[in-house]
Parts: sequence; C-alpha cells; structure tokens
Amino acid sequence: MSAAPQLPQERRLVTAIPGPKSQELQARKLGAVAAGVGTTLPVYVARAGGGVLEDVDGNTLIDFGSGIAVTNVGNSAPAVVAKATDQLAAFTHTCFMVTPYEGYVAVAEQLNELTPGDHEKRTALFNSGAEAVENAVKIARSYTKRTAVVVFDHGYHGRTNLTMGLTAKNVPYKQGFGPFAPEIYRVPVAYPYRWLTGAENCAAEAAAQAIDIINKQIGADNVAAIIIEPIQGEGGFIEPAKGFLPAIVEYAKANGIVFVADEIQTGFCRTGQWFACDDEGIVPDLITTAKGIAGGLPLAAVTGRAEIMDSAPAGGLGGTYGGNPVACAAALGSIETMKELDLNAKAQHIGEVMLGRLRGMQEKFAGSDRFEIGEVRGRGAMIAIELVKPGGKEPNPEVTAAVAKACHAEGLVVLTAGTYGNVLRFLPPLVMPEHLLVEGLDIIENAFAGI
Ligand SMILES: Cc1ncc(COP(=O)(O)O)c(C=O)c1O
Repeated sequence: MSAAPQLPQERRLVTAIPGPKSQELQARKLGAVAAGVGTTLPVYVARAGGGVLEDVDGNTLIDFGSGIAVTNVGNSAPAVVAKATDQLAAFTHTCFMVTPYEGYVAVAEQLNELTPGDHEKRTALFNSGAEAVENAVKIARSYTKRTAVVVFDHGYHGRTNLTMGLTAKNVPYKQGFGPFAPEIYRVPVAYPYRWLTGAENCAAEAAAQAIDIINKQIGADNVAAIIIEPIQGEGGFIEPAKGFLPAIVEYAKANGIVFVADEIQTGFCRTGQWFACDDEGIVPDLITTAKGIAGGLPLAAVTGRAEIMDSAPAGGLGGTYGGNPVACAAALGSIETMKELDLNAKAQHIGEVMLGRLRGMQEKFAGSDRFEIGEVRGRGAMIAIELVKPGGKEPNPEVTAAVAKACHAEGLVVLTAGTYGNVLRFLPPLVMPEHLLVEGLDIIENAFAGI
C-alpha cells in the first residue's frame, strides 16, 4: 500500500500562530481541562498527514515533533487507517484476557521477530509507555525474586507512581507528587558532553561509577532490573558514550540482573535502525516499546526472553484494554509501512541532512554573545542541539525557549527537552518530504539569526 500523503505537503500560514479559532479553543481548554495537562503550542489540529499538521484556522505547519516520536509513519498513514478501519467495523473490544483475537498474537509475533536477539521471546501488550515500564519491573521482580531497580541520571520513564520514581527530573514530573515507590536507585550515565574529565573518559568512568554504586550501596544480589533508555529522550537525546551500554549489560549478565532497554522513544526506525540497541549489538533481556508502534493509536509492549516473561503467573499481567484490537490492527499497518517504505533508510537520510545543517549553524553562530550551540547530537531522525551560554557549558534555557517560540510563530513545530531545559529536539515523521525538512531547518536558522 502506498503512503501517499493525504494533505498538500506545504507550509501555509494564513493567520498569526495561534490563529483566532485556536485561541478560542485554548480559552475553552483553560476552563475545562486540568492545568496540569500542559500544551507546548496551542494550535488546535484539524487534520494531519505526511510531514504537516493543518490547524482549525487553515494554517499548515511543518511537524518536527511527531506527537513526541509517535507518528513515525506519518499521521493517518494509509495502511494504519485501512487496517484500523476494518477492525473498527468488525469489533472494537472483547478484552484479550476474556475472548482473544488474532491481531494481538500477530503483533506479539512481529515484536518477537523485530526486537534484538534471536532467542525465544514472549510479548505482553499494554496501553501506554509508563504501563509497559511498570510491567517490565513486575516481570523482572517475579523472575529474580529480588526487589531493587537501578535507573540513571537524566532518565525518563513516565508519569505513574512507579515510573515517576524511576524518572530523574523533579520539575515538572515529580514535584509535589510523592511519596514515590521504594527500592529505586539512581546511578550516573555516560553523558559525553558534560563528563567532567572529558568525553574520551566518559564510558569507562561512568560504567565504573555506576557499578561501584550498585555494589556498595545496593548489593548486586538485591537488584532485579537495570533500566535504561539507549538514547535518553526527555533527558535531552543523550547518547551514552560508546562502550557504556555494553559494560552495563555485561555486569547485569554476570550478576543475574534483568537488563531492560526502554525503547519507548527510540524504537521503530526512529534512530535509523529498528531499535537503538541494534547500534552496539545490545541484546536486552526485556525491551519496552510504545509510541511509534501503532502510528498514533495507544499501544505498548514488553518483549523479552521467554523464561523471564513467562515467570509471571496467568492473570498477573494484563488489563482491560491492553492490546486493544483496533490498536493492534494499527500496529500491523504501521510495521508494514515501516518495512515497505524502508523507514530505517529514511531516518538515516533525515539524520544526515539535519546533522549537516545544524553543524553548519553551530559554526555560523559561534561568535554570538547570547548563545552557543554547545553540541549537535543524535541518530537518525532523533536529533538535538544543546544550547549554552557563550564561552562555557552553562545551560541556556532562555534562548532555547526563545528559538522554539520563534519557530512556532513561523509554523514549525519543535519541542524542547533536557534536564536543564536547554535542548531543542527534532523528531520529524520519517515520511517527511525533503523540501519540508529543508524548509524547517531554514526556519530554525532564521530563528537563531533573530536572537
Ligand atoms: C523513554 C520513555 N519511557 C517511557 C515513557 C512514557 O510513555 P507514556 O507517555 O506513553 O506513558 C516515555 C514518554 O515520553 C519515554 O520517552
């Protein structure tokens, strides 16, 4: 099936951003929706497809966010729409735990095949990323009969009670929401740009420090799981220095600890490979996925070694909606599209174009007295720039926010991230047409020039 975009693939601004209809809706939102549910850009969407979002005022914006790394195949991708529509007409819900259906099994088979490693695997489906991470912890504890969970600086794993505890950043994710679950321990991650003794020492020193903390403060025999994002998403697209992840995997293996890769943001062709773990040949014991899996419908999964996955007793895993049949149909359409359009190759190409242009901007603006592009980093279509104050590495959240705002006003959706709020991150749909990618980068460059 072709994935021809349904909307004209062009940026078109007919009002200020946000336009009057969006502003009206935003006023209604403020009166009706809880304040805790924030909005990055209050432009209300009417339609979306390919690389664009069309708003209720008739503006068409270029999408460098993919709804936070979800619409990897583009919005309303034809195969997703066709399969989900057929499923909607056939039946919407039975509960897989009551009377099952083939779509769930087919998604599990696909995940068992596509995720790293050729060992025997099993999969369980859920609704959201946080729910998948919670279940990975349950399964690891059930298998190891241990309780401690190790996570990393700058990590993000969700907003439920357990996953808030696993998440590093306090504001806005945790402040005022405690107490958090016990038996969670945080260790350093190999963040090359900010490693005090230099990027070249980062992998070995960070791994040694992490392992030392586990041995001294927790005891390896007490650790059920080590959970890490192979590229940290909300933390600012931090790619651990090469060698760090293999060292942690080796330690986990030697100590009977379940190694969990949280690929909720990095999975499904986003980094130019099916999963970011593939880059260093990492084979996790369990892998959590969500976001890109189903082209925008809510679905999440834990996939992993059969003996670990099967350690939880029947009835111990699941939930009313987990693996909803419409979401499963959408996932099968989404995975089919990734294969047919070779979205790994598309993501790699997007990465080359973006890294080239952004490194050019890093040089061009090196003399600014307001900011420096400290680092350009990322893999595939998961690219970020970290902004600092001139002459050092002090985070520059002010300029980051100002550039994001300027991009939004020009009809380019960009997101910020980072523990210090000083990272601009770019996550275009992998079907983004090249001319829109280039136009989006032009807008970013102009935004910097206007600072
Ligand atoms: C790495 C990672 N884990 C977990 C989550 C939580 O997923 P969800 O928002 O679907 O609960 C996210 C969401 O951004 C994520 O990026």
